[in-house]
Amino acid sequence: MARLNHDFSPLNQRVGFTFNTLHVLLKYWLDCWDGSHPLLDIGCGNCLNSLQAAETGARVIATELNPKVIPELKEQHRGTGIEFDCLHLPETIPFKDETFSGILCAEVFHFLDHEEVLASIQRFYDLLIPGGKVILTTVSEDLSLLQPVGLKQLRVAQRERDGSCMKALREYQDLFCAARNLEPEGHPAWEIYAAHLDAYQPGYFNFFYPEQLATAFKRQGFDIELIELGAANHYPIWKHGPQDQVRLVAGKPE
Ligand SMILES: C[S@@+](CC[C@H](N)C(=O)[O-])C[C@H]1O[C@@H](n2cnc3c(N)ncnc32)[C@H](O)[C@@H]1O
Repeated sequence: MARLNHDFSPLNQRVGFTFNTLHVLLKYWLDCWDGSHPLLDIGCGNCLNSLQAAETGARVIATELNPKVIPELKEQHRGTGIEFDCLHLPETIPFKDETFSGILCAEVFHFLDHEEVLASIQRFYDLLIPGGKVILTTVSEDLSLLQPVGLKQLRVAQRERDGSCMKALREYQDLFCAARNLEPEGHPAWEIYAAHLDAYQPGYFNFFYPEQLATAFKRQGFDIELIELGAANHYPIWKHGPQDQVRLVAGKPE
């Protein structure tokens, strides 16, 4: 288990890590609560954000990918008022259109490929009431750790071929391994890299360019309230930068 800091922990039977810090855009999500239409927390992890929302009196529905963890989550959070369900972007979404006033999608989009990203944005639009918002953070192509091993160049080359393409990288584990190999054995990089191999299935991983993601939301009909890059010092990596995370707030027009 990686011990670099205490800001993250691997998720049991879920994908990736969860974070022991409150979401940087939490206030935007909490402010969506209108007294009747619930808030949705997609890929809730350890439920820290959902717990905050429930404590303010909001109705919260928190979801996870793996149906096997739902009973465990219900048991752990009994008495908090949080409701749990299974949701798998983009295809398995057990809710009716215009159900939610706010959707938090924290650190989930980098597990999706281009078509899944577009289909998810469309589903978000349908799920929200008019005036509702999506609050989203995900990994940026400016992720400092992978700059020395060519991440940005790969993404720029992809955009030059097709400006709207947000194709995930199949070779991300090779990039990650190359970044680890820049560090001497015994450096925390080696332990963190091993934790990643345990936490993620081999497959693909996406890295986003803010303007491109915002354009995809605009094309779906959203208004963009915030699009920016920021630091994500809780990410389970051994080097952090000021532009590791893409942050977006998008509203469905009234
Ligand atoms: C990196 S964790 C983030 C957990 C939590 N949101 C947080 O910020 O601590 C990613 C979460 O997304 C979920 N997830 C991954 N792929 C998903 C998908 N296609 N649809 C829905 N949830 C997904 C995982 O089960 C996991 O809970």
